[in-house]
Amino acid sequence: MAQARIGLYGLGTMGSALALNLAEQGIPVAIGNRETDGIGAVLDKAGPLAAHLHPHETLDGLVAGLKVPRLLLLMIPSDAPVDEMIAALLPRLAPEDTLIDGGNADFHDTRRRAALLSGHGLHYVGLGISGGEAGARHGPSMMFGGSIESWDRLRDILMTIAARYEGDPCVDRMGPDGTGHFVKTVHNGIEYAEMQVLAEIYGLLHYGAVWPAAEIGKLFETWANGPLRSYLLEITARLLQHHDPETGHPMVDVITDSAGQKGTGRWSVIEALRLGQSLSTVEAAVAARNWSAEKDTRQAVQAALGGARDLLEIDAPTLSEAMLAARILGHAQGFRLLRTASEAYDWGLDLARIAEIWRAGCIIRSDLLSEIATAFRAEPPGGELILAPQIVPVLQRSVPALRQVVSAAVAAGHAVPVLSAALQWHDTMRQGFGTANILQAQRDMFGRHGFARLGREGVFHGPWWD
Ligand code: 6PG
Repeated sequence: MAQARIGLYGLGTMGSALALNLAEQGIPVAIGNRETDGIGAVLDKAGPLAAHLHPHETLDGLVAGLKVPRLLLLMIPSDAPVDEMIAALLPRLAPEDTLIDGGNADFHDTRRRAALLSGHGLHYVGLGISGGEAGARHGPSMMFGGSIESWDRLRDILMTIAARYEGDPCVDRMGPDGTGHFVKTVHNGIEYAEMQVLAEIYGLLHYGAVWPAAEIGKLFETWANGPLRSYLLEITARLLQHHDPETGHPMVDVITDSAGQKGTGRWSVIEALRLGQSLSTVEAAVAARNWSAEKDTRQAVQAALGGARDLLEIDAPTLSEAMLAARILGHAQGFRLLRTASEAYDWGLDLARIAEIWRAGCIIRSDLLSEIATAFRAEPPGGELILAPQIVPVLQRSVPALRQVVSAAVAAGHAVPVLSAALQWHDTMRQGFGTANILQAQRDMFGRHGFARLGREGVFHGPWWD
C-alpha cells in the first residue's frame, strides 16, 4: 500500500468526520483507533472515499504507513490520553516528524508537550478545530499553533480541508506552541457568551412576554437576515421551531434546564484573571451554566424565596439592538484577552487574522466577525475594539437599548447575567474617572499601601493616622 500523506488517530465524531473530509479532497490518510471496530465503521461510512483511507490496527502499522517526515493528527480526548499517546509514540517517531493535537487542549499542556517533543527533535502542533461534526466533515475553522517548519508541511493539507470565507481558507498559523489551543479556548469563551445571550433573550420573550418557543424562533429567523446574522442565531431559530414527536410540545419545553460543559469556557476566564484581565461576559456565561446544573438547589430556593418574574414590555427591535451591543462587548473582551496574552507570551497574535478565520466554519461565525476583522485591520486606538471608528457609532446607538432591556429585566426579576455583565463593563470602561480612589484610600488606611496622587509624582499616604 502507498504511504499516506497524513495519519489520523482517534475516530470519534470529530476524528472520523475529519478523515472523511481529507479523503474527499483526495488526500491519502492512514487511520487508526484504540477500538479497532471504529475503523470498520468509518470505512463503511466512507463508501467510495474509503479508497483514500488506509486502515491500521496497530500503532506500528500506522506509523510505518506514513510518508517521512511524518504528520500524525491525534483526535483523542485531551488530558491524560494525549500524554499516554505521546509516551507510546515517542519511541516510534523520528526527528522532524510532526505530531498534531486536534482536540480542545489546555494551552499550558500544549506548551509543555511542545517543549518535550522539541527535546527529541520533533514538532508538536496544537491545532484548534472548530465547527462541530459538520464543520470537521465539510470545512472547519482551524487555529494552528506550532513551528514554522511544521506549518510549511501542513499548510496545504489544512487549507484544502478548511472552510472558506469568500475563497479565503479559514485556517492560519497563530504563532508557536500553545497559540492555536489558546485562540481556540478564547473562541469557546466567546461561544459561551454568545449562547447565553441567546438564552437570556429567549427567556425575556418566553417568560416576560409569554411568547411560545416557535414564535421566538420565527423572530430569531428574521434577525438572522440582518446584522445579527450568526450560525448560533440560525440554529437557535431552527431548534426553537422543532416539536417533540412524542408529546407534540415545543422541543425546548421538554429539555431539562441544566447544561453541561467540558471546561474551555472556564479556562478562558481563568487565563483572563491570570493575565490581570477580566472576561466578565464569559464568566457570567460559565456561572450561568454552573448554576443551571444545580437544579435541586434552584428549586429549593424558588420554594423558599419565591421565583416570581413579572411581565415585561419590551419590543423586538429594542431586544435586537440590545443583543448586538452585548455581542460586540463580549467579543471586545475576548479580543482584549488575545491581545493581553499575545503581549505576555510574546506571541505576536494577529487579531484581524483571527477574526478573519472565524468568519466561516467555526461555531461563532457571524457577520459581526467581518466587521471586527475590518475594525482590527484598521488598527483601532490602543488595539481596543470598542474604540474602533466603525464600532463606536454602533455602540452609541445600541447600548441605550441594552440599558433599557437590562433595567426592565432587573426590575421585573429576570436573570440576565451576560447582558448585564456586558453593560456593566461598558459603564465601567466609559468612566475616565471611576471610584478606585476609595479603594486606594482604604488600602492605605488599613495596610499603609500608599497611593498615587493626582498631578504629583511619587507614593503618598493619607492623614489617617495623625
Ligand atoms: C467548536 C466547539 C466544540 C465543542 C465545545 C463544547 O468550536 O466546535 O466549541 O469545540 O462543541 O467544546 O464545549 P462545552 O461542552 O464546554 O459546551
